[in-house]
Amino acid sequence: MNTTHTAAAVDEVIRERRTVKPDKFNGEQIPEAAFTQILAAADWAPTHAYTEPWLFFVYAGDKAQEICHQHAALYKSATAAEKFNQGSYDKFYTMGDKASHVVIAAMKRGNNPNIPAIEEIAATSAAIQNLLLAATARGIASFWSTGGMTLREPFKAELGLGEEDQVLGLLYFGYTDAEPPVGKRMRPAQEKFIWK
Ligand SMILES: Cc1cc2nc3c(=O)[nH]c(=O)nc-3n(C[C@H](O)[C@H](O)[C@H](O)COP(=O)(O)O)c2cc1C
Repeated sequence: MNTTHTAAAVDEVIRERRTVKPDKFNGEQIPEAAFTQILAAADWAPTHAYTEPWLFFVYAGDKAQEICHQHAALYKSATAAEKFNQGSYDKFYTMGDKASHVVIAAMKRGNNPNIPAIEEIAATSAAIQNLLLAATARGIASFWSTGGMTLREPFKAELGLGEEDQVLGLLYFGYTDAEPPVGKRMRPAQEKFIWK
């Protein structure tokens, strides 16, 4: 491995990953082989004790739109009338219209009680970031959302997840013709990285 070139390429992919909202996607489909590769990259996240707690539900093509319709329907059925917002329903319903793939990323507890849930959430978040970076490296735009039903109990039930499991995101993937949003950091690095 040429470490100089590898470091520069990895750093560039990390820096250039941007949140791109699915309404900016162009409807083009990601080849199955490419998506299989990015899932394989996700699977190489670190874990404590090889628990590999991520469980990703992958929806491609028409299924990407269908899962968004189901998400909207669940939002409607699980939300009290006085809290229901038609605009939110419409947003969830149409969110995948131009997406190629949607992934529901969950942490599923294994049978190792020595590993606390926080570590399993951390490991699953690392797998999600792997997914986003592997997508970026292939020119695929992505959006990690925790909106709508993502963090609500009925969503877990619908997915067959248990009480201790946790959905961590609805991830949308596609291609875009739009200029990537300009990245920004709100706090200076020295506030977040304390050299001792
Ligand atoms: C755990 C998590 C949940 C997020 N949920 C949402 C969301 O529900 N809606 C949204 O617009 N962006 C969401 N984002 C994306 C962030 O808003 C986005 O990362 C942030 O604006 C920084 O932009 P960047 O990703 O291009 O650096 C989420 C990001 C993370 C890490």
